[in-house]
Amino acid sequence: MSTPYPQAVIFDLDGVITDSAEHHFLAWQQLGQELSIPFDRQFNETLKGVNRMDSLERILSLGQANDRYSETEKTALAEKKNRYYVESIQHLTPQDVLPGIIDLLKDLRQNKIKIAMASASKNAQFVSERLEVDHYFDHIVDAATVEKSKPHPEVFLKAATAVGVAPTDCVGIEDAAAGVEAIKSAGMRAIAIGDADILNAADLVLTDTSKLSLTTLSGVFSK
Ligand code: BG6
Ligand code: MG
Repeated sequence: MSTPYPQAVIFDLDGVITDSAEHHFLAWQQLGQELSIPFDRQFNETLKGVNRMDSLERILSLGQANDRYSETEKTALAEKKNRYYVESIQHLTPQDVLPGIIDLLKDLRQNKIKIAMASASKNAQFVSERLEVDHYFDHIVDAATVEKSKPHPEVFLKAATAVGVAPTDCVGIEDAAAGVEAIKSAGMRAIAIGDADILNAADLVLTDTSKLSLTTLSGVFSK
């Protein structure tokens, strides 16, 4: 029997808590240009939520270049993209948290609802600290411990286990199609932020984070 509120809310980071999805895009685009594999925002949608090495493989595959590099060279390319990305996020501040997120985190705490983060990013801890949101989270999954990239549900299931809540009592929040698929495969309710045509597998799609509230969460949860 469902309660009106979820017992845990599991957040993606990039594109949900802050606009770092844009920084990932620009860093991959720069690497893509250097490899003579240009791509646009539409292709970038297929990279969102996907881990670093899988993203690189997708870009190489776009340029039919998967066999052009050895594993060592691929690791070096992924590290190069990460250097571009890390440089671009050095100046993130609490002002870069997207609208409505802090109010929601406070409301969740006040209502004793567990809060977890299920990001594919190995930079999640650093970004959370720069934004000064890390202290709201009961658990932040370490992406280095996750074997299978979204759309596999592993990272969401790990987050739920860490806060001791059954997947059916969780709501996940994502901006990526791969992330929404991961939440649904984990057996959770999904709220998506962004384009309803791209994110149509979610239980609810909101245009932006300012629309997130305890009421929207409970609406999705009691469906
Ligand atoms: C996800 C982003 O959160 O993390 C992807 O949506 C990114 O764009 C992935 O590639 C991995 O991030 P990182 O920081 O470990 O390279
Ligand atoms: Mg994201």
